[in-house]
Amino acid sequence: MRDAYIVQSIRTPGCKQKRGLFKETRPEELISFILKTAVDRTEGLTADDIEDVMCGCSFPEGEQGLNIGRVGAQMAGFPDHVSGATVNRFCSSGLEAIALATARVKMGWSEVVIGAGVESMTFVPMGGNTPRPHPEFSKTDPDKYISMGITAENVANRYNISRQEQDEFAANSQDKAAAARDKGLFTEIVPTPAYKYVEQADGTYKKEMFMVDADDGIRQSTPEGLGKLRTVFAVNGSVTAGNSSQTTDGAAATIIASKEKCEELGLKPIARLVSYATVGCRSDEMGVGPRYAIPKVLEQAGLTVDDIDIYEINEAFASQAIYCIRELGIEKYMDRINIHGGAIALGHPLGCTGSKLTATCIANLQEVKGRYGIVSMCIGGGMGAAGIFERL
Ligand SMILES: CC(C)(COP(=O)(O)OP(=O)(O)OC[C@H]1O[C@@H](n2cnc3c(N)ncnc32)[C@H](O)[C@@H]1OP(=O)(O)O)[C@@H](O)C(=O)NCCC(=O)NCCS
Repeated sequence: MRDAYIVQSIRTPGCKQKRGLFKETRPEELISFILKTAVDRTEGLTADDIEDVMCGCSFPEGEQGLNIGRVGAQMAGFPDHVSGATVNRFCSSGLEAIALATARVKMGWSEVVIGAGVESMTFVPMGGNTPRPHPEFSKTDPDKYISMGITAENVANRYNISRQEQDEFAANSQDKAAAARDKGLFTEIVPTPAYKYVEQADGTYKKEMFMVDADDGIRQSTPEGLGKLRTVFAVNGSVTAGNSSQTTDGAAATIIASKEKCEELGLKPIARLVSYATVGCRSDEMGVGPRYAIPKVLEQAGLTVDDIDIYEINEAFASQAIYCIRELGIEKYMDRINIHGGAIALGHPLGCTGSKLTATCIANLQEVKGRYGIVSMCIGGGMGAAGIFERL
């Protein structure tokens, strides 16, 4: 198989659903901007060289329906020959898109493909606008459609993850994110145009643009303060708004090119996807997914947990992140895990998350001059996914 190299990986800021800075910015605007910017920032590459856009999206309907992979490419001004697809594996959709793009290039079926992701949880809420679970199956197997928050409670209860541990983990995520923001370490973020509709004197509305250059969900938190929040999903539970991932809007893009195309155009490889794995688990404790996906991908790559310099383990909920870290035996490497915070502070824009965390992982590998990084997440319905990246 051929070599496939990542030559660009960037993201928009992540902004809070409904109340954040992207609340009036449509998902097509986010994805088309990040696609165009990814190409513009890659010296030697033009949109003409792109063959396909694989775009992760967890709820591809409404404003992010109608094949947002293709709509995004066209709104980005890419030529007609650039095809586009929407990829859905819920929370790993963006990573899946990067894996599919890489596989295509490695197989020799394409030269340059973008693996991307977008989710506006403002425009299309989690679950979609009109969820219609199968009438009989949802009665015989209600767990298959279970609320994500209940799965987090199940993980906390079954594996003894206390409320205090979750709140400490959450406060730490917020602290790391605030420190990284203040030190300007989110180098993978591209200042992104956002829109608002401003009422004019004559009663009409004018669309006005403004720039957003930072994640807007980071807040100062202490374990004590978080300990006062009420639980959201269960009366005697432990999962709160403070120790859950934030619901967020955002987009991200990674460009993958063949070794041959890199040489022809003079593109500079920055990383490569070494291996990718998915695995299924019980849907009523879907948060355990990374605990199984990470060993699987490590085995595929012939590596161990000790070889990994940067872990980006999506913080869907503190309970499941703590459980996975513990079971993987990587508590000794807390200084390598989500070094600039995770989704509790930075948000989890579902189908974008895999591509967002890839951009973050590569930036963090560059910062610490590490070699291998893992991007992993649990997935609604009961799955885990993990990808290993190597910095070049
Ligand atoms: C948990 C969840 C329902 C909370 O949503 P929300 O109610 O909109 O959250 P908010 O940001 O409004 O926070 C609720 C309250 O907690 C407070 N709060 C949230 N985070 C806090 C923090 N870090 N420190 C202190 N207070 C905090 C807010 O100020 C707010 O207080 P208020 O009601 O007095 O205004 C939502 O974030 C969620 O569903 N997360 C999980 C998403 C998910 O399942 N993703 C898929 C995973 S597989």
